[in-house]
Amino acid sequence: MLGAIEVGMRTHEWVPTFVISQISSLSASKVEYRLQHLFEQKLVVRETLHYLGYQINFDAYDLLALSDFVKRNSVNSISDEIGVGKESVVYGALGEIPLAIKFHRQGRTSFKHVRRLRDHLTDKPKVPWLYAAALAARHEHLVMKKLYPQVSIPRPVGVSRHALAMEFIDGPQLNKITLSDPEEGLNMILDEVGRALNLGIIHSDLSEFNIMIAESGPKIIDWPQAVEVTHPHAQELLERDIGNVLRFFERKYRMETSLEEALLRAREAGRS
Ligand SMILES: Nc1ncnc2c1ncn2[C@@H]1O[C@H](COP(=O)(O)OP(=O)(O)OP(=O)(O)O)[C@@H](O)[C@H]1O
Ligand SMILES: [Mg+2]
Repeated sequence: MLGAIEVGMRTHEWVPTFVISQISSLSASKVEYRLQHLFEQKLVVRETLHYLGYQINFDAYDLLALSDFVKRNSVNSISDEIGVGKESVVYGALGEIPLAIKFHRQGRTSFKHVRRLRDHLTDKPKVPWLYAAALAARHEHLVMKKLYPQVSIPRPVGVSRHALAMEFIDGPQLNKITLSDPEEGLNMILDEVGRALNLGIIHSDLSEFNIMIAESGPKIIDWPQAVEVTHPHAQELLERDIGNVLRFFERKYRMETSLEEALLRAREAGRS
């Protein structure tokens, strides 16, 4: 039923019950009964226009993605919330390996960038948030597939709609610990930036919050806003990324490293 509403949302902002009935091949009375049930469980929202129309909400979208992962045998079980960001919520899960599932939430508050994107398309999405979140997850997955395993990031496991399943990183965020050898730590991070650069990718949201410290070393997470090196602001974004990291090491460890020095280190690592 949720899947039928999702399909209906490609063509309707608010999906009329007769459309849900057509897509699901269920009688009008069955559809009505189930919709009422879903409404009470807070998985759909409805709006009275000149007809009664339905949308799924983010919780229902999460369930659809999750059941897809389960069908594909990527995920066996889900556990607690392990992170919540400006534009996502992340849950622990189990598949063949321990996983983190990142459910994107883009477009819920800001529709501006979606509209800009949307204007280039003839096939304009009816429900912008649905589209924005799925687009962000797909982009993040694509970038991670390109980077893994050359760059130290969580292994990407799969994507469905707005949800991205990846390897769970066991370790704290860089800002939450004190490194015993901060100089080596900074160098390892710059090396990863360099390797990504060598594969044509700039993170564009790099900071101490998006670097996790695993047993094996730093792992860089949170890639949906990554750009290619051909991006018109590539250099600026690269410098901002490195600048954020340098400022953190300066604040916390009193290390003074010039941007030029750091850029050189990264570029050299990328080449080797
Ligand atoms: N693979 C992972 N393993 C373990 N924890 C993770 C993993 N990915 C994300 N997390 C946790 O979830 C938090 C949020 O994830 P992430 O940084 O990718 O998204 P975000 O911060 O919501 O993005 P934004 O920067 O747009 O707000 C992280 O700070 C981290 O604590
Ligand atoms: Mg983050």
